[in-house]
Amino acid sequence: MWRLLASIILFSCLFVYSSSLGESEVTCSGIVPLRYRNDKISITDYGGVGDGRTVNTKAFRAAIYRIQHLKRRGGTLLYIPPGVYLTESFNLTSHMTLYLAKGAVIKAVQDTRNWPLIDPLPSYGRGRELPGGRYMSFIHGDGLHDVVITGQNGTIDGQGEVWWNLWRSRTLKYTRPNLIEFKDSKEIIISNVIFQNSPFWNIHPVYCSEVVIHHVTILAPQDSPNTDGIDPDSSVNVCIEDSYISTGDDLVAIKSGWDQYGIAYGRPSSNITIRRITGSSPFAGIAIGSETSGGIKNIVAEHITLSNMGVGVNIKTNIGRGGYIKNIKISNVYVDTAKYGIKIAGDTGDHPDANYNPNALPVVKGIHIKNVWGVNIRKAGSIQGLKGSPFTGICLSEINLHGSLNTYRTWKCSDVIGTSLKVSPSPCSELRTTGGSDFCSSAF
Ligand SMILES: *[C@@H]1O[C@H](CO)[C@@H](O)[C@H](O)[C@H]1NC(C)=O
Ligand SMILES: *[C@@H]1O[C@H](CO)[C@@H](O)[C@H](O)[C@H]1NC(C)=O
Ligand SMILES: *[C@@H]1O[C@H](CO)[C@@H](O)[C@H](O)[C@H]1NC(C)=O
Repeated sequence: MWRLLASIILFSCLFVYSSSLGESEVTCSGIVPLRYRNDKISITDYGGVGDGRTVNTKAFRAAIYRIQHLKRRGGTLLYIPPGVYLTESFNLTSHMTLYLAKGAVIKAVQDTRNWPLIDPLPSYGRGRELPGGRYMSFIHGDGLHDVVITGQNGTIDGQGEVWWNLWRSRTLKYTRPNLIEFKDSKEIIISNVIFQNSPFWNIHPVYCSEVVIHHVTILAPQDSPNTDGIDPDSSVNVCIEDSYISTGDDLVAIKSGWDQYGIAYGRPSSNITIRRITGSSPFAGIAIGSETSGGIKNIVAEHITLSNMGVGVNIKTNIGRGGYIKNIKISNVYVDTAKYGIKIAGDTGDHPDANYNPNALPVVKGIHIKNVWGVNIRKAGSIQGLKGSPFTGICLSEINLHGSLNTYRTWKCSDVIGTSLKVSPSPCSELRTTGGSDFCSSAF
């Protein structure tokens, strides 16, 4: 009895010790300093009414115009008090904090006809869904620096239903708006905000650097089309941590442009860390691609907890993409219930137009996936490289993907070269060459 008690106490002490000093405290959120703003204004000073009916577009534009033109030293905080503030889309400006109090909701109008259009991204050549321009994101930032969106877990609500229905009935005219997009911007922090019902992707930093997204909650129904959680795109030095994401598409998907347009623009995504993310989706938990044309490298994803998934980890690209996926390290992933545990595929996604170069084959090299524990996984894994560009340096270690009775207990592989250690079910022969203890690093 006493021995049992002693070992329980010892065990709990070790646990407290390891969780307070251990890996769980590692963070990258300090890469952007959090600045204190002396100057504070409230949306109500600019005519904002949080009754859920008044359209507050003028109030948001006037408040942000004031921040942009008065240029107070240290920037300005725009306070959104409790209440529901309906508004059309608006642009942010540099040196500002958008602060949502507890109970504050910034809600998008559902007027899809007068929603502003902007140019397509050069690395996509057209809207992601349809040719031509694209609808501006609900909250937009272009060419900015030093912007914070934070508060006490207020909500930014895209009311996406009307957009999802246009998509379902195939009557969309242009590509749907993201909930938030930052383009050509740097030093961005997004924290302690709830994002819900985005018309399309939720948070889209594109051509950005120094971006921190942490302690956010992102929610959209499981059947909502293309409601990706966070999509860092042709961006560098991005830190995504401590968030819960449950949507209708990939939870976090790293991208870098689309076929010939992405190759010509040539902007990689690199140095991106994804840590302590929990969530659920009919698509992927951690996704790389499929738009990989500017290249994607130096990515770390760790401590990821997933349930009811399509795919746990999904690396995806296609012919015509060019570019590369290099030096990807994914570890400590727990998946409860998924169609696939791990899927790496060279045949995913569509093309912007018929002018893509079928000889532009992406290079996929140096993928290390370690410590994955799955239960109720229907198919363990599939790694399908490209005939003309086999995937190399694929290294799997300490992976256990448990299935239920009538499931496929095999891996499917083709055009792949790699190694594996302690993988169950036993991987395909292409990966069955094991080496020493640090055999994976030799794969890079
Ligand atoms: C990569 O990101 C980390 C934080 O995640 C940062 O400390 C480091 O300086 C970045 N590396 C480069 C080369 O910018
Ligand atoms: C918002 O930014 C977009 C993209 O930079 C620009 O096209 C648009 O005119 C801006 N809208 C307003 C109201 O300033
Ligand atoms: C807001 O939500 C985050 C993520 O769930 C949580 O860590 C944080 O404590 C919450 N903050 C407040 C002020 O409620």
